[in-house]
Amino acid sequence: MDGPSGSGKGTISRLVAEHLGWRLLDSGALYRAVGYAAGMAGLDLSDTDAVTRCAASTKIQFRAAPDGGETRVIVNGHDATDELRTETAGAAASAIASVPSVRQALVALQLGFRKAPGLVADGRDMGTVIFPDASYKVFLTASAAERAKRRYKQLKEKGLSVTLSSLQSEIEARDARDASRAVAPLKPARDAVLVDTTGMGIEDVVAKVLAVVKP
Ligand code: CDP
Repeated sequence: MDGPSGSGKGTISRLVAEHLGWRLLDSGALYRAVGYAAGMAGLDLSDTDAVTRCAASTKIQFRAAPDGGETRVIVNGHDATDELRTETAGAAASAIASVPSVRQALVALQLGFRKAPGLVADGRDMGTVIFPDASYKVFLTASAAERAKRRYKQLKEKGLSVTLSSLQSEIEARDARDASRAVAPLKPARDAVLVDTTGMGIEDVVAKVLAVVKP
């Protein structure tokens, strides 16, 4: 399941995985975690050697919340879930994600999530680079205005202080960088089903994706 920021990938992937009883990989959280760990270590994000070493050595764990709530992301033993959610973390993730050796350092970890009966993998290059042989590929998208609004609502609900206009420009800048980078640019796989979720409710999108898996 690939797509730009705010396309609904995270929510839809989680619901589809729950419905199918499949495992879930939030690959964006890995890039966010490395960006965060690099920041905590005081690294200059443009120092590609240092950031690559950081990507290779950062310990990232996903832990189910006991109350069935949001999965916690543990970075080097620290619960960094709240810090990873911010757009600052998104921008740091996007910056380090354009470095080929950083991406390479995270490949084995991602492949390790593949497990029977199935995996829903959410990201930017799941169908194009990491799992090119995936049985089903979906590229979720939505208008830029709607994606910004959704992300705004999500961050507000989490108690973060943001403005819609600044968020929209930050997301647009991040998407532009993700789409124009030399390695694993954000784009649909040739065999992906495109789903434009503009104006669609969550239930309808889930049904549409499930129809791809179980036609
Ligand atoms: O939630 P949102 O879609 O805004 O972001 P995310 O999926 O958490 O990803 C954060 C950033 O990590 C993206 O803007 C990409 O630069 C990078 N990323 C990537 O390059 N490849 C992936 N498979 C997943 C994320």
